[in-house]
Amino acid sequence: MVCLGNICRSPLAEGILRQKAAAAGLDWQIDSAGTAGYHVGEQPHKLSQKVALVNGVDISGQRCRQFTADDLLAYDRIFVMDLENLAEVKRIGADNWDEHKVSLVLEPLHPGAGKEVPDPWYGTEKDYHHVWEMLSEACDKIIKEATNR
Ligand code: 4NP
Repeated sequence: MVCLGNICRSPLAEGILRQKAAAAGLDWQIDSAGTAGYHVGEQPHKLSQKVALVNGVDISGQRCRQFTADDLLAYDRIFVMDLENLAEVKRIGADNWDEHKVSLVLEPLHPGAGKEVPDPWYGTEKDYHHVWEMLSEACDKIIKEATNR
């Protein structure tokens, strides 16, 4: 799960997908990263932590890291929050870029629509709840497609 800062959106996506994969009995290795390095080593944003906890998921143990070209080899699927993240993953990935591995996280839910998860960085708590809802629905669809249910 990849966003710009790896402190607002992708930590939520990591927490949500980890919880749903475990509940579905899937032994997936799930991680998140940011295309930028502004917050490396930091915990997720306070509002991401709060909204996750309200929804029963503790993401306080996560630490921000930057996306690397090796991630394109290490992971089978890479989900990005917006089109800028997509362009950055392509740029950072360079020779490891694989268009079949990387997609917008909302693509499975809304194929071909190019829908993005809005950045809540300058937003309010309400925006983080909105991001949670979008990502929860997206992760349900990802699990459903993977398990053919
Ligand atoms: P994220 O949000 O990409 O969802 O983690 C942001 C976090 C930090 C910044 C931008 C977006 N920043 O400019 O520091």
